[in-house]
Amino acid sequence: MKGRRLTSLVWILIFTIIQVSAAKKSYIVYLGSHQHGSDATSEDYVRAKNSHYKFLESYVGSEGKARDAIIYSYTKSINGFAATLEEKEAEDIAKHPAVVSVFPETIYKLQTTRSWSFLDMDVPENRGSILTQANIGRNVIIATLDTGVWPESKSFSDEGMGPIPSKWRGFCDNSTKFGVPCNNKLIGAQYFNKGLLASNPEEDDVNSARDTEGHGTHTLSTAAGAFVPGATSFGYANGTARGGAPGAHVAAYKVCQSRGCSGVDILAGFDTALHDNVDIISVSLSAGPAYYGGTNFLDNEIALGSLHAAAMGITVVCSAGNDGPDTMTVGNVAPWVITVGASTIDRDFPSYVKLGNEKLIKGASQATTSLPQNQMYTVINGSDAAAPGVNTDLAASCNTSSLDPEKVKGKIVVCLDNMEMPRILMGMTVKDAGGAGMVLINNAYWGDSIVSDPHVLPATMIPYRDGATLYSYMKSTKNPLANISPKTTKIGVQAPAMADFSSRGPSYPTPEILKPDVTAPGVDILAAFTEFISPTGIVEDERRTPFYLLSGTSMSCPHVSGLAGQLKSVHPDWSFSAIKSALMTSATIKDNRYMPMRDHSGAKATPLAYGNGHIRPNRAAHPGLVYDNTIENYLSFLCTLGYNSTNLSGLINKPFVCPSKPIKLENLNYPSISVRALNKSTVVTRTLKNVGPPGTYKVRVKAPSGVGVSVRPSSLSFSKVGDERIFTVALTSQIKNENERGFKFGRLVWTNEIHQVSSSIAVNVVA
Ligand SMILES: *[C@@H]1O[C@H](CO)[C@@H](O)[C@H](O)[C@H]1NC(C)=O
Ligand SMILES: *[C@@H]1O[C@H](CO)[C@@H](O)[C@H](O)[C@H]1NC(C)=O
Ligand SMILES: *[C@@H]1O[C@H](CO)[C@@H](O)[C@H](O)[C@H]1NC(C)=O
Ligand SMILES: *[C@@H]1O[C@H](CO)[C@@H](O)[C@H](O)[C@H]1NC(C)=O
Ligand SMILES: *[C@@H]1O[C@H](CO)[C@@H](O)[C@H](O)[C@H]1NC(C)=O
Ligand SMILES: *[C@@H]1O[C@H](CO)[C@@H](O)[C@H](O)[C@H]1NC(C)=O
Ligand SMILES: *[C@@H]1O[C@H](CO)[C@@H](O)[C@H](O)[C@H]1NC(C)=O
Repeated sequence: MKGRRLTSLVWILIFTIIQVSAAKKSYIVYLGSHQHGSDATSEDYVRAKNSHYKFLESYVGSEGKARDAIIYSYTKSINGFAATLEEKEAEDIAKHPAVVSVFPETIYKLQTTRSWSFLDMDVPENRGSILTQANIGRNVIIATLDTGVWPESKSFSDEGMGPIPSKWRGFCDNSTKFGVPCNNKLIGAQYFNKGLLASNPEEDDVNSARDTEGHGTHTLSTAAGAFVPGATSFGYANGTARGGAPGAHVAAYKVCQSRGCSGVDILAGFDTALHDNVDIISVSLSAGPAYYGGTNFLDNEIALGSLHAAAMGITVVCSAGNDGPDTMTVGNVAPWVITVGASTIDRDFPSYVKLGNEKLIKGASQATTSLPQNQMYTVINGSDAAAPGVNTDLAASCNTSSLDPEKVKGKIVVCLDNMEMPRILMGMTVKDAGGAGMVLINNAYWGDSIVSDPHVLPATMIPYRDGATLYSYMKSTKNPLANISPKTTKIGVQAPAMADFSSRGPSYPTPEILKPDVTAPGVDILAAFTEFISPTGIVEDERRTPFYLLSGTSMSCPHVSGLAGQLKSVHPDWSFSAIKSALMTSATIKDNRYMPMRDHSGAKATPLAYGNGHIRPNRAAHPGLVYDNTIENYLSFLCTLGYNSTNLSGLINKPFVCPSKPIKLENLNYPSISVRALNKSTVVTRTLKNVGPPGTYKVRVKAPSGVGVSVRPSSLSFSKVGDERIFTVALTSQIKNENERGFKFGRLVWTNEIHQVSSSIAVNVVA
């Protein structure tokens, strides 16, 4: 029942790609890291490439065949290649001792739902000091792996930008007519589409990093767009648009088309971005729930690319996915990435239906035109207005050309959302038939979750149960009348609340790591858009807009990327794990009414939806303490999962030996605590590192219900920056009977007078 979020187009094309490549597939052969370091020469790259040809030659017969088969040689930061292979060939290659892993490419999806297939949200109103400085994020380079960039957008103006950091090694590909020129803001733009073309030769890409989709421009400007006053989406959400780190430089690595992204291209994007010396990589993509997609950490392109990033100290931020609200839907679950869920902001777009009997029904809309308010309009049911010979069911959902102009002219038409007919097209049907406006009744499945769409005529969407109110009024009178209130942007509504689409934990295959890590604004986010296509993506829609409201974990991810960029700018010496910890332990689980953050249903949300909570930019800069991790800690985590030293030492180009006694997965020094299965009792260990002034921190615990929690010691003193202190958390099941089993949630906070270092606790009590 995910029809509302996934356009059927996306699914059809994904299946096509898989079918076309049924005999031969694109595989990634992963060989670890290169002998050459970061100051490699072009000869080193050629040598690496030739070694790949040589390697593959013995499996496919000749060097010529090897050259034909190889789609990419990953020669810069990641050692390996992508090639079109038979399954048998892939199996044989996997046995070679130099090979870490061989896996078929994954197709990833953009984690947005255009507003016509979706729900509503807002621009982040950043209150407070750190974000008000225009230069925030200075000297930092933020990259996206996405659909490219629309360089003419004002969000990428370089007015007031400092010079390009000297470490930068990337460029803008402006070699074609449709290329992308750079400036001091937008400093990189390259495209990678060989993987997509290999698995789907029909694909017609523009061979440019230019964004023909909109998603990439939106995410890049959300992460680090410049200040643009008066930005608005068709008159809604008017205000100053800007990214999380407006002073940062940006680079777009185009690895996706509107139909999806090839994992082979994604890995090429990582290989190049890491080589180019970016600081933050923002990845608003997902292969869906980890449960269904690549389950291992070394056979998933995003997990693999980001592990190399982690080894180089580079932060990778990923979308949790749009597969909620069901549990166990979260994707991008590797512990070395920051996984971001999506929640609402304090803005919405209410639009009321005013009935002839003075009753008001609250709906939502971003319709681009409004009705005059000084008169009322006759309301007609779509099913009563079917064109001659058309089935009334088609007319009820205002299917294309299903309405009779004679019957609907000048009237407000009531249409039913059937989760199939795109809602923008329903409005177009009414408009084409001469209707004055549309009231769209939600389907029963989504009930109260209404969506504000940019309709082409005056229109609003109302909750399913309010449809009954409307119908009974219509039945009560011979000439039912109504009007729809004009464009409204309302600020200050209760927020954040978790978005229904945001993917939920527990994480698979490692529920010992709480995922998502945090939540951030992801509903109705205003940011820059491409002017190549209409924002609804519908061909018949000729509208263009430089800014547009989009929803999805694609939108929340770059908020965190921008914030990570700020932290990198303020604390250039911090490790990526320290940045991640600061983001997580400063997060809040309260909303703007100081109430516990709610779920989409109105119930209290849990850490399986928001992780450690909603990001708080101003506090993240001064966390006091951090849960740090070295790359070796993550490799030890992989040892426990069955990778041995042989597999892993090649990965970081220095000797690595798995611990003789495998670490407990729960003991990875993570900024939250998650217990896979609590049977009687367990103890988890954490280490805190001081990054603030000297001081003594005391622990405060809100124990999960039915779980005893004891923290030792209960007080930690730090005398200088870098001091580390270990503590243990003993968890004991106190449940008395079976029906008390299940996930229980608590909170652990270390606090001195000034700082609060907060972690969520999630415990699956099994006995
Ligand atoms: C490259 O960018 C510049 C603008 O900076 C533009 O004038 C030029 O035509 C571009 N070159 C190509 C080949 O498109
Ligand atoms: C946006 O707000 C500004 C300042 O309040 C105003 O001048 C401008 O006309 C508004 N734009 C739209 C499209 O409403
Ligand atoms: C709309 O009508 C077309 C045929 O005219 C049909 O294929 C499509 O499924 C309809 N959409 C729905 C389900 O309303
Ligand atoms: C409008 O049409 C729908 C679908 O056919 C039907 O369920 C509903 O009762 C109708 N309402 C009125 C007021 O006729
Ligand atoms: C580690 O490498 C060995 C061979 O070198 C291989 O058999 C094993 O499957 C690898 N383990 C994993 C988890 O990839
Ligand atoms: C890793 O595993 C492979 C086979 O599973 C074995 O051949 C190799 O010796 C192991 N390496 C170490 C360091 O244990
Ligand atoms: C809990 O632990 C006990 C003793 O180790 C074991 O007998 C029991 O099967 C475990 N229960 C579950 C649900 O794992």
